[in-house]
Amino acid sequence: MASSIRVASTSFTLLASTSSPASCYCRSRCLTFTKFRFGPIWDISFAVTSRRARRMAHSIARATLGLTQPNTIDQPKILFAAKEIDLAEWKGDILAVGVTEKDLTKDDNSKFQNSILQKLDAKLSGLLSEASSEEDFTGKAGQSTFLRVPGLGSKRIGLIGLGASASGPSTFRTLGEAVAAAAKSAQASKIAITLASSEEIPEEFKPTAASAIASGAIIGTFDDNRFKSESKKPTLESVDIVGLGSGSELEKKLKYAENLCSGVIFGRELVNAPANVLTPGVLAEEAKRIASEYSDVFTAKILDLEHCKELKMGSYLAVAAASANPPHFIHLCYKPSGEVKTKLALVGKGLTFDSGGYNIKTGPGCMIELMKFDMGGSAAVLGAAKALGRIKPAGVEVHFIVAACENMISGTGMRPGDIVTASNGKTIEVNNTDAEGRLTLADALVYACKQGVSKIVDLATLTGACIVALGPSVAGVFSPSDDLAKEVFAASEVSGEKFWRLPMEESYWESMKSGVADMVNTGGRQGGSITAALFLKQFVDEKVQWLHIDMAGPVWSDKKRSATGFGVATMVEWVLKNSS
Ligand code: BES
Ligand code: MN
Ligand code: ZN
Repeated sequence: MASSIRVASTSFTLLASTSSPASCYCRSRCLTFTKFRFGPIWDISFAVTSRRARRMAHSIARATLGLTQPNTIDQPKILFAAKEIDLAEWKGDILAVGVTEKDLTKDDNSKFQNSILQKLDAKLSGLLSEASSEEDFTGKAGQSTFLRVPGLGSKRIGLIGLGASASGPSTFRTLGEAVAAAAKSAQASKIAITLASSEEIPEEFKPTAASAIASGAIIGTFDDNRFKSESKKPTLESVDIVGLGSGSELEKKLKYAENLCSGVIFGRELVNAPANVLTPGVLAEEAKRIASEYSDVFTAKILDLEHCKELKMGSYLAVAAASANPPHFIHLCYKPSGEVKTKLALVGKGLTFDSGGYNIKTGPGCMIELMKFDMGGSAAVLGAAKALGRIKPAGVEVHFIVAACENMISGTGMRPGDIVTASNGKTIEVNNTDAEGRLTLADALVYACKQGVSKIVDLATLTGACIVALGPSVAGVFSPSDDLAKEVFAASEVSGEKFWRLPMEESYWESMKSGVADMVNTGGRQGGSITAALFLKQFVDEKVQWLHIDMAGPVWSDKKRSATGFGVATMVEWVLKNSS
């Protein structure tokens, strides 16, 4: 079952170096204001980039930096073992037990009260209870302890803290990830994962818990080695999940988890790829690859600069204007066989790099060196597309839309103060070139509304202000529609990704008024994520339900120095909720 997923990096460009003083506003809260033809045909129609542009964009770097290699993803084989298995006899490299704080309570003789821990501890002559006391291991979430032991069938035993109670898919996914990490450092090939109190988990929730553990183990095993000259092959081959049942329902859930993981991993690879490798053109290539891989349900349309001009996407093209890498407007359409009852759109911000433009990002904490992640919304959208291409839900049509480009600096670039016209005719005075995401999304949202969809969700690494408000792990949700918000929050309950709804406070629109155009693109510093959402609303048809996700925080893990794949799981769940 070892499947291999390939993302080849097909091109390279050299980064233009820029240096001029201006401003930024992000994790460190520093804000200073110094600073168009395409046919209606649904065939695959691809952009024709001029030879010269392509040469400029790719060939030099391919010749000099040919470092990348595709990831070979060997997913571990997941097996579900019945409860009756004797854990002390289980043979393998690591036996990992998920424990709650309650599971770790001890009696007056410092012995575990939990029967599974008691049994294992007896086999180990009390070593487990001793170690847990010495290390002050109390079962809190995030704690773990692994011991190399004689006396069991397994070489090692590990306790992984689940917190006060074991509930919610994210707890179980984290458990799977923690064990996969331990397997890496112990170079383990065969592991088992169980829960000290699996009997306390409601029967109907067990398949969800088991598949969440499996997802964690698969995702935790994945390492992005494309840009390393040397890489270690993952050693983990099999994972036994013990005590959470077995059978066809579980196998179905597992298949779903594996499909979802392939989308999450793809999303991570897209975000991790640097901007000299993942240009707008390469992002479009990756989208086309999804369409050709799942051609039974997908069609792809890529609009080049000329097409976008004809559609009068003046707002998007203003952002793209400075870059040597031409814009590519990506439109994938998922259509299953059979009757379609609901039509949806997923729109993702796709800035393959955000320098800030003339309002260049400068100063500590501006994170310019991380701005390859500014296409995280589009990675979530394309990751979801890939997973859905495998899952193939019925009754729902989905449009995946990305106005991909790069925000750079050059003589052809937009200037602060320029006035641009979006494809719905509204004019925008660009008072800050660093508020570019909303300018690209404006035309993408107008385009999405023309697809006859009833609901649109957009995902964007839109504002540093959202990180200030919610921190690095929680995405902001903005929507005029309570119904759609309910749907997305229900999906997040299953995915385990964290969202928090913020208000679309209409009175703040005051700060977005311009003396010369219909609006400016930046309000004040206060409520920066809200004014950004209010700006997007100007480009959405009122008859269409719309929800905006600001994922500036959760797109990236500082701790892991890597992309998270955020958004893929929730969007796949949301589409499934709309399927029939
Ligand atoms: N891509 C950034 C938002 C961002 C900042 C994401 C930091 C992740 C980390 C976006 O294009 C941007 O620059 N927004 C500005 C808006 C401001 C000029 C109103 C910001 O947040 O600083
Ligand atoms: Mn920006
Ligand atoms: Zn940006």
